[in-house]
Amino acid sequence: MRQTREPSAAFALHGRRALVTGAATGIGRAIALAYASAGADLVLLSDQDNLDDVAGLAQALGAKVACVRFDLADAAGRPGFVEALLDHHDVDILVNNAGLIRRGPSETFADDDWYDVIEVNTHAAFQLARAAGRRMLGRGGGKIINVASVLSFQGGMFVPSYAASKHALAGLTRALANEWAGRGVNVNAIAPGYVETAVTEDLRDDQRRRAEITARIPAGRWATPQDIAGPAVFLASAAADYIHGHILVVDGGWLCR
Ligand SMILES: NC(=O)c1ccc[n+]([C@@H]2O[C@H](COP(=O)([O-])OP(=O)(O)OC[C@H]3O[C@@H](n4cnc5c(N)ncnc54)[C@H](OP(=O)(O)O)[C@@H]3O)[C@@H](O)[C@H]2O)c1
Repeated sequence: MRQTREPSAAFALHGRRALVTGAATGIGRAIALAYASAGADLVLLSDQDNLDDVAGLAQALGAKVACVRFDLADAAGRPGFVEALLDHHDVDILVNNAGLIRRGPSETFADDDWYDVIEVNTHAAFQLARAAGRRMLGRGGGKIINVASVLSFQGGMFVPSYAASKHALAGLTRALANEWAGRGVNVNAIAPGYVETAVTEDLRDDQRRRAEITARIPAGRWATPQDIAGPAVFLASAAADYIHGHILVVDGGWLCR
């Protein structure tokens, strides 16, 4: 085999187009920009008109970018929207990143806080994966990456709908991988630990909780969104072609404790 000191082409995403949900902020934004750096074109989805900044940065990196606004909590409109979106934009990579969290004691947890979280974190992710996967199977290849959580493995405290939704996403990842691995479509997930984004703002504002969590992370710090972006490039690349149904934990060692 010829040896070279050039970075491996196996990690490049040239000629690929990636759909990233929740791309305006946090982890989704970092993944979108990392994909643009690796050579991919982008379809960015947000529920607000807030994609200009990330789209401009991705374009400056050479990516062609389409921006789409849709509220993934819209259960009635979602199936039609998803099919139309994917009819309009062929994508080789889907990142189901959009997600939300609601906090509260389980004994008084409101129905809305249950349904709203499951709707976006689980139902929308399934419908996007189903529609994108069907088209990828037709073309003989593609990559689907679900953004799960360490709460795909643990229950957490005061986040029953979030933990349930992320456990479901891990199960969905494995279920789809079993069906699609033999037909060229890789379905995997990334399970971030504690990342400095809007989702964890309440936790980080609570000095005691923040210190407790930091002390339990073997790496000694919270993740930045960029810590999640590299693994997302890897899973989208040819270097990960033989990885199926894997939940890649990116948590600074949190689950080792
Ligand atoms: N931060 C962490 O510690 C952590 C740990 C494990 C897993 N995760 C997961 O990582 C993913 C990204 O979260 P993040 O930490 O980067 O926080 P974030 O900045 O709040 O990102 C969540 C994204 O999802 C979008 N979103 C939420 N509801 C939506 C809806 N109904 N329709 C369309 N988009 C919607 C948000 O858009 P708007 O802001 O415009 O509503 C936002 O861009 C989530 O799935 C989260 O569960 C985060």
